[in-house]
Amino acid sequence: MKKIYVFICMLVCVLMACKKEQQPTNELETEVSELLSKMTLDEKIGQLNLRGTSSRVKGQLPDSLKQAVRDGKIGAFLNVTNTEHVDELQRIAVEESPNKIPLIFARDVIHGYKTIFPIPLGMAASWDAQVAKNSSRVAAIEASSFGIRWTFAPMLDIARDSRWGRIAESPGEDPFLASNLTKAYVEGFQGDSLNDPTSMIACAKHFIGYGAAIGGRDYNTAIISDAQLHNIYLPPFKSAVDAGSQTLMTSFNEMNGIPASGDRRMLTTVLREEFGFDGFVVSDWESVEEMIPHGFATDLKHAAELSLNAGLNMEMTSKAFEKYTKNLLKEGKITETQINSLVADILRVKLRMGLFEKPYRVDKSDNLYADAHLQMAKEAAIESSVLLKNKNNVLPITTRKKIAVIGPLADKPREQLGTWTFDGDGTYTKTPINAFQSNNVNYNFVEGLSYSRDKSTKDFSKAVAAAKNSDVIVFIGGEEAILSGEAHSRANINLPGAQEQLIKELAKTGKPIVLIIMAGRPITLGNILKDVDAVLMTWHPGTMGGPAIHDMIFGIAEPKGRLPVTWPKVAGQLPLFYNHKNTGRPVIPEEFVQMDSIPIGAWQSSLGNTTHYLDVGYLPQYPFGYGLGYTKFVYSKTAVSSSTITKNNDIMVKVIVTNVGERKGTDIVQLYVQDVVGRITRPVRELKGYQKVTLEPNEQKEVTFTLSLDDLKYYDNQEKLNVEKGEFKVWIGQNSAVGISAKFSYE
Ligand code: NOJ
Repeated sequence: MKKIYVFICMLVCVLMACKKEQQPTNELETEVSELLSKMTLDEKIGQLNLRGTSSRVKGQLPDSLKQAVRDGKIGAFLNVTNTEHVDELQRIAVEESPNKIPLIFARDVIHGYKTIFPIPLGMAASWDAQVAKNSSRVAAIEASSFGIRWTFAPMLDIARDSRWGRIAESPGEDPFLASNLTKAYVEGFQGDSLNDPTSMIACAKHFIGYGAAIGGRDYNTAIISDAQLHNIYLPPFKSAVDAGSQTLMTSFNEMNGIPASGDRRMLTTVLREEFGFDGFVVSDWESVEEMIPHGFATDLKHAAELSLNAGLNMEMTSKAFEKYTKNLLKEGKITETQINSLVADILRVKLRMGLFEKPYRVDKSDNLYADAHLQMAKEAAIESSVLLKNKNNVLPITTRKKIAVIGPLADKPREQLGTWTFDGDGTYTKTPINAFQSNNVNYNFVEGLSYSRDKSTKDFSKAVAAAKNSDVIVFIGGEEAILSGEAHSRANINLPGAQEQLIKELAKTGKPIVLIIMAGRPITLGNILKDVDAVLMTWHPGTMGGPAIHDMIFGIAEPKGRLPVTWPKVAGQLPLFYNHKNTGRPVIPEEFVQMDSIPIGAWQSSLGNTTHYLDVGYLPQYPFGYGLGYTKFVYSKTAVSSSTITKNNDIMVKVIVTNVGERKGTDIVQLYVQDVVGRITRPVRELKGYQKVTLEPNEQKEVTFTLSLDDLKYYDNQEKLNVEKGEFKVWIGQNSAVGISAKFSYE
């Protein structure tokens, strides 16, 4: 059955490819076909080639590189940072190459170009599409000025393991939240029109399963069932395609034995046939060649054959396509129709970008670090900061107090920018110390440790002396930027170096401690949590992190973020995520037996009989969706509009939210659903909606969500989308672990 289906799909595909060539359906397709018909095979192969060497070129461009462009042998460049080189290469392409096909210049513009926004995991903590869209629009305006019209972002890898260094770049663990933010990112990068000179085409990456790397070890194997693939990992990519993302990037990893750059099922069946994607797919850096060490391709030629047949359009940096496409054609291992189709996808995007009419960059460099950009970056840092603990309301600091600022990241302009910020200029960064200075805060700064991994205790006594002489300690620590990002996984994810030791010394002074964390991932806090009064997670907050932190700790602004990932107590709990399945023995809190309570010499038994760790139990440190503010909200009267849902009858779920605190505040009202029994087991909860509400003290608001049958559908392991009759539970609450529940059923 499956074989017949695959055959029919292939037939449809071939017919579609022929149709594309012979019967263009619109003006764009006509242009694509006309161009293709004029191109030599060498030029076609050239379009499949993304060259990444030019960033290393200092001074003059080598003649060989210019000649390759003149001959039409390169379709796009990455990392050309010298604008004179950009202009010269483009001039050669559009004036001297055979068919005058413009180049596209690409770069990793991940969370800002010059004005750096919080790392993507931080942006996800904002749960705010507008904030995400602002960040990607600003990035596009700034980067396009340098000729960069293609960014390798957004990264959409769902990540459930904080050891993985690239969790910093991810949208977190939830597909619903990630999909919403994806749409915003794509719209911001690409702008209102692809042919606007400030539009930067998006690249949804990494397709697919990169975040499921075993043990959080980068580049590692992913084993993903079809149900997980469709329900968890694919939705953000579908959202990117629906939002019009013009490109996707394959991932380094293999999934279920197939490296992503050679996965025909994913690149053709899912992406083209199911999602209807008509842009192009680029490999990751040398990932075509890396199929050899993966044990999937015998040699570079075989790698080219596998990737071309899978439907990969463009090869990043390795040269399998360049070297072997002709031979493969001669040997009949690929067809010219296939090559035409792969090239057509690239030409279509170049035409949409308007590069044939306006190939050159428009210099808008007076916009770099514009006030409006900085303001948006500051707002994003506030929206994404998560207040995790606030004992006795130590924050905000409202009266004028003497503050001891301690810690290795209080004044580190480059570190607070985070991973993937090649172009962010540290001299524009505003650190917390800069902000305290310019706001005349009464502070005394003693670093104590000079970088996050510093193990030296030589300055501890100075730090303790400053602490003793203060009313409150603000400790700004975490991880340097280099400790997260690509290939920067950690097995232990506590505060590195001697930071915990220093905090313990400071705690002995009896002064309240506000811990501000700048890091690329959740940090396990077990050793020091009881020693600190407040914990504010700012992730790596970007250029304007300092002013944002200033405003938050003094109550000028409220931290508004909510966790986009479950925060573990210890790394040994990982992977950890809220939308897990139940076991046959779900946790019974009252019956949990902690390791130290087991009698010595106890008889062998399956203590507690549930799924837990003897030493750390079954709860995370903080659940997905968690975050405090400076006021208090009470949720009441959760109700569903009907006890049954039908095809024509959506149901409404309502709650009354009241601000019972003393200041205006913002909360993110979250809706979770559980499908109680399914043909395959269903998660204990899934996020299905959220709304940000801002209320004055004593103000009340009725918050309403609408659920349709479509919202309840899920994929089974036969890749079938279902919704089944039966009972559903629904919760509205402040995070994934709480909420007032109600029920309804589909009959
Ligand atoms: C490797 C990374 O995995 C990818 O995300 C990035 O876009 C490319 N290198 C290009 O720098």
